[in-house]
Order: sequence, then structure tokens, then C-alpha cells
Amino acid sequence: MGTHAKTGAPVTLTIDGFSVTVPEGTSVMRAAAELGMQIPKLCASDNLEAWGSCRLCVVEIEGRRGTPASCTTPVAEGMAVRTQSSKVKKIRKGVMELYISDHPLDCLTCSANGDCELQDMAGAVGLRDQRFEAGRNHYDPLGIGTLAAGDIRARARPGTGDLGNPEYIPKDQSNPYFTYDPSKCIVCSRCVRACEEVQGTFALTIEGRGFESRVSAGAAGDDFMASDCVSCGACVQACPTASLQEKSIVELGTPERSVITTCAYCGVGCSFKAE
Ligand code: FES
Repeated sequence: MGTHAKTGAPVTLTIDGFSVTVPEGTSVMRAAAELGMQIPKLCASDNLEAWGSCRLCVVEIEGRRGTPASCTTPVAEGMAVRTQSSKVKKIRKGVMELYISDHPLDCLTCSANGDCELQDMAGAVGLRDQRFEAGRNHYDPLGIGTLAAGDIRARARPGTGDLGNPEYIPKDQSNPYFTYDPSKCIVCSRCVRACEEVQGTFALTIEGRGFESRVSAGAAGDDFMASDCVSCGACVQACPTASLQEKSIVELGTPERSVITTCAYCGVGCSFKAE
């Protein structure tokens, strides 16, 4: 998707049978949005360059093999895209199952409940259960998931009150304005890209692989305050879960009404919320 409006020659394609004309270089996901179609996504956002890592936005394109990510696939003249075939629906559901298998099932007590893109996408793809073995971050304090009670106790940290598994990485509370909870990170890298593309700070990176992968502030002590972070909050705004969350929301909950004001002082566009 990206931040830059496309200005190329017009290209006409069909998406689920509907014709749309968009500038050359536009992504299939953006063209679908022009038609009012919301293709499920997690790593893409309106103000960041497309990344193509979550694979939730896959589509089928007539005459092409495989299921490309719609966020990174540019439109082409005469292209016929299918966004709702049984094949792509099955793939999206499988992808979401994998994400949920490594995510805490504490939605009812989570500070992002009702304002969580992971939750929204699970609903959008129709996920009701997950079949895979729980990953390292999957704890279920309310017993609402598929883990048996014995599993939960076995994964608790004795004496800490933490119901996660023994390797659970504690929250980074070092920043005065926001917290970072690695257990809720889906490694979509939106925070890393926001830090680079919006703020130009390059304070964050991704380290590790598989279940071990996570966002790192990369500093000695590995906390945000010891890093190059300037507390601009771009990463918090970009986070689709409660992994990066304003402390006021963690402590007080989401306000019923709020007003967001964008600071006009510089080009960053920091937003402030008045409750
Ligand atoms: Fe396209 Fe993540 S939204 S791959």
C-alpha cells in the first residue's frame, strides 16, 4: 500500500468481477479498497510501505500460479483477481490459526479488547478454534482457549503470578509513556517500520527466528529507554495488538470518548489523545 499516492498511467482490472481503474503501480489491495473491499491484513497499514510478511492478504489471480500477497502485488492491465475463493479463505484461516496459537488468550481482560486488529482479523476470517500446539506466548488465564487447565498450570511461573510459560519475557515498562509486551507481539514489524519511515529514528529491529522472534530496542539492557527511542509514539500507533500500548490505556482502560489532535509543529504528525 504505502504512503505515496500513485500517479502512473491508468490500469483497468477486475476484482471479484467488479471493474476498477487505478494508476499503474497501485497494489491489488489498494485497488480492492477503491471498490470498498477490505482484504484481511495485519502487516499492512495505510501509512507504511507494504511489507508482505503476514500472508493474510493472499488472493488468486487468473493465469498465475500460487496465492500472492495483495499488498505487495501491483495491478496489471486486464488482471482478474479473486479475493474470496475457498482456497484463499482456507489459507487466511490457517495463517490466523498459527498467529493465535502463539498469542495469549486473555482478550476479555486485555487493554486492547475491542480495539485489536488481531481480534478483528480472527473474526474476519471466521476463526473459532485453533488446532495447533500452543507456542511459547500462548497462555490462557481464563481458560477460554483450547488448553487444558493442567497445561496452564504446567506453564505458569511459580511465585510470580505470571500464568505464562517459564520462558515468558517480561513487559518492558522502561518508557514513561508506553509499555512493550513481547508476548502479544505478532512480529508484523509495523512498529519497526513506523520508527524508520515515520520518525526516521531506527531504534527498533526484529531479532530471533520462529517462536523466538520478537521486536528489540537493540540497546544494552534491551529496553526502550536505553535505546535511541525518542518516545514519539509512532510505534504504539502502528501496533495492531496490545503489544505496544499507552500506559494510560493499560492502567485506566480505553476511554469511551476521546479526541485525537495532530501536532502541527513538525512533519512527523504526532497525535495526542484527549479523553
Ligand atoms: Fe499483505 Fe500482510 S497484509 S502480507
